[in-house]
Amino acid sequence: MIEIKNLRYKYPDNHEALKGVSFTLHSGEKAALVGANGSGKSTLLLHLAGAVEIQSGKILCNDQEGQETLRKHVGLVFQESDDQLLMPSVLEDTAFNLIASGMNIKQAHEIAERILSSLGISHLRDRPPHKLSGGEKRLVTFAGVLASSPDVIALDEPTAGLDPRARRRVINFLRESDKTILLASHDLDMTLDICSRAIIISDGRVSAEGTLPELFMNKELLEANGLELPLRYSYAL
Ligand SMILES: Nc1ncnc2c1ncn2[C@@H]1O[C@H](COP(=O)(O)OP(=O)(O)OP(=O)(O)O)[C@@H](O)[C@H]1O
Ligand SMILES: [Mg+2]
Repeated sequence: MIEIKNLRYKYPDNHEALKGVSFTLHSGEKAALVGANGSGKSTLLLHLAGAVEIQSGKILCNDQEGQETLRKHVGLVFQESDDQLLMPSVLEDTAFNLIASGMNIKQAHEIAERILSSLGISHLRDRPPHKLSGGEKRLVTFAGVLASSPDVIALDEPTAGLDPRARRRVINFLRESDKTILLASHDLDMTLDICSRAIIISDGRVSAEGTLPELFMNKELLEANGLELPLRYSYAL
């Protein structure tokens, strides 16, 4: 279980991106984090993955605090894939965390190959990650996070730039997963396919929480948060 308690964060230029965020993510739960551009989603996910030092407030992961605990339990698919792709080939990149945690290379590469295949990107295995297209890079970062099998998977716009088939593969993966998932996205149709609950973040604060249908049927709330009704709801009306 993840408990975020009154989390505040100021960037070095003094811009206050998080202004007291609190919510709980239960084990096995799949929640969407939605909100307008600049509302604080990526900043929050960086905290959750232990990539940023907490300035004020707390994040508890199974009752434990600390960046190390978060790094161990939470895997983040970054919004900017380039921040996450470090190795000379896709296969090595996908296997990187497994090898870093002590697994032998052969076994790590087998796991990596299996994940690349299930995401339909085996053909990229020997390519240098930084030379891939935007969508390909995103799938490779997703593969790397899946390979290390964290308890909690946080995803920052995982389907941005993906073609429909790749988008569907990512959605199916997340739907079928038994992990705890926090999914930040502007793709509200995808969040409906995967998540049972949503947390709406607005100007660094949680402005609403509830089941997806509940929130998506509230027109004023959507408008106030720069969100649009998912397509399937507009068709239903
Ligand atoms: N490195 C930085 N230095 C200063 N301010 C920043 C920095 N990164 C982000 N911010 C600011 O912090 C706020 C939150 O940014 P964040 O990237 O978390 O938003 P977001 O909800 O992920 O937006 P988007 O939907 O565009 O990805 C924004 O106002 C942004 O301008
Ligand atoms: Mg963002």
